[in-house]
Amino acid sequence: MDDLSLRWFTMDDAALVYHWRYDSTATQYSGDTSVTPWSSHVAWCNSIVRDQKTRRSAYMWIAESYSQPVGYVRLTATSATGVYKISIAVDPEMRGCGVGTSMIKLCNAWCDEHGITPFANIHNNNITSRKAFMSAGYTQQIANEKGSVDYGRYIYDST
Ligand SMILES: CC(C)(COP(=O)(O)OP(=O)(O)OC[C@H]1O[C@@H](n2cnc3c(N)ncnc32)[C@H](O)[C@@H]1OP(=O)(O)O)[C@@H](O)C(=O)NCCC(=O)NCCS
Repeated sequence: MDDLSLRWFTMDDAALVYHWRYDSTATQYSGDTSVTPWSSHVAWCNSIVRDQKTRRSAYMWIAESYSQPVGYVRLTATSATGVYKISIAVDPEMRGCGVGTSMIKLCNAWCDEHGITPFANIHNNNITSRKAFMSAGYTQQIANEKGSVDYGRYIYDST
């Protein structure tokens, strides 16, 4: 998808992200299947906007296609220096069109520029996500278990 670009998330995007983040497919594959109340979501968004200013523990972008928002990408710092967990969701109406793969590639480029190593924890049954990350240059590193759910761990390899 050539026309895709990333711009920084702002609080004006909070409702969109809420919609994408808690749609039934997204919650099915997230580690926590409960839906966060709107007020908690707003607090979470505020913390991300704050962190974006300081550029330390989290970054979030909205992907746009022809100026229309179609998804988000988020990086969250881990305890390992320079290693960030990547999370993405695409507007349910836009899934299966290459948006997810393109968003990951754009994020990879940003990570390369900023010396960040991203990784994704992907539910083993989330075939679409696994394919998107693999198409964007991720390889499966470790299969691990979190509670009763198995996760595949992927690490981006820029070589
Ligand atoms: C996972 C997600 C981000 C992928 O984005 P997307 O734009 O739908 O994915 P793409 O169109 O780039 O397709 C990626 C791959 O999956 C394949 N695919 C797309 N829809 C599919 C489907 N319903 N079933 C199986 N494969 C599918 C594509 O053919 C492509 O495979 P390829 O690289 O081998 O050609 C998106 O589906 C989503 O938002 N899901 C809910 C949230 C989520 O699961 N986030 C990821 C958490 S780690």
